[in-house]
Amino acid sequence: MTNNCAGDRHGSDRERGGKYPNETIRLLHERSSCRSFHDRKIEPEVLRAILEAGDHAPTGGNLQPYSIIKIENKATSRKLGDLCEQAFIGEAPVNLVFCIDWQRSRRWAELENAPYSATKSFRHFWISFQDTIIAAQNICTAADAMGLGSVYIGTVIDQLEAFRDICGLPKGVFPVVLLTMGYPKARPKPKRKLGVPVIVHDEKYRELSDEELRAAFSAKYRSNRMEITDERLERIATVCRRVHGEEFARRCIDSIKQAGYINQVQRYFGLHYVADEMPEGNEDYLRLMEEFGFDWFKKFDSQFDSGDV
Ligand SMILES: Cc1cc2nc3c(=O)[nH]c(=O)nc-3n(C[C@H](O)[C@H](O)[C@H](O)COP(=O)(O)O)c2cc1C
Repeated sequence: MTNNCAGDRHGSDRERGGKYPNETIRLLHERSSCRSFHDRKIEPEVLRAILEAGDHAPTGGNLQPYSIIKIENKATSRKLGDLCEQAFIGEAPVNLVFCIDWQRSRRWAELENAPYSATKSFRHFWISFQDTIIAAQNICTAADAMGLGSVYIGTVIDQLEAFRDICGLPKGVFPVVLLTMGYPKARPKPKRKLGVPVIVHDEKYRELSDEELRAAFSAKYRSNRMEITDERLERIATVCRRVHGEEFARRCIDSIKQAGYINQVQRYFGLHYVADEMPEGNEDYLRLMEEFGFDWFKKFDSQFDSGDV
């Protein structure tokens, strides 16, 4: 695959100001998440143009099964920041909560005497999740194009009920992700990525060799070496022990000591997205899903379907 744009090699640093075929490609290549914002309101016409980019996003069957809760109230934004334990959310002039929304279509079907079972269908759920994210990304790119900065906040998943209450979500509406946006105080350098040769496979999937895989990740994360402390080692050892047993824990700790630092994957799954806790609570999510009006994981019995969401 050939590409004339800057930064085609994996793990390459993408400096701003490279050569691009047009402005859209430049925006997409040079974007980065922004987490500090000026205390400046986003002009209504600017915000409107950005939100319309979400309305024009591709969506399965042109159904648009999503809603966006636009939050400009400072107290509400701060509450979201507290909930997500990320204070900058409270400083942003606009926070957008993207939700899957099947209640609107259900009411449309009801009003027009059409059959309806979307919240009982995994296929509908799957596509509507994609629709919601695609609309969010259109808005994210439009925000960049209007000189704004933004960052997605995924920890909505840990606060589903609180988001429902704050946003006043009815049944059939499920919060997915938050997009925090505003005029950027500073634009962080674009992050290093794996690179096209790693993420794109010509015609068929090709597994990387161990050497290629190591090279790709170490190029991307070459400056991410975390200092060893007793506390971190103990934490990682505990996680390893719980997931893979004592022998593995010893191997992991030995390899960290030998390297002299904690590498990015050890940090990701040993200290941050901890491998022992991340899979916990899966059944609680199914219960919550049902509470929000979605029961696609249950056997569908059309005879007894009342049509409720
Ligand atoms: C689904 C999703 C959830 C995210 N959640 C958070 C978050 O909770 N807090 C945060 O600061 N960044 C969050 N991010 C931003 C990522 O950290 C960021 O995209 C990643 O580090 C790559 O950096 P870049 O966007 O500058 O390329 C999230 C991004 C995505 C796509």
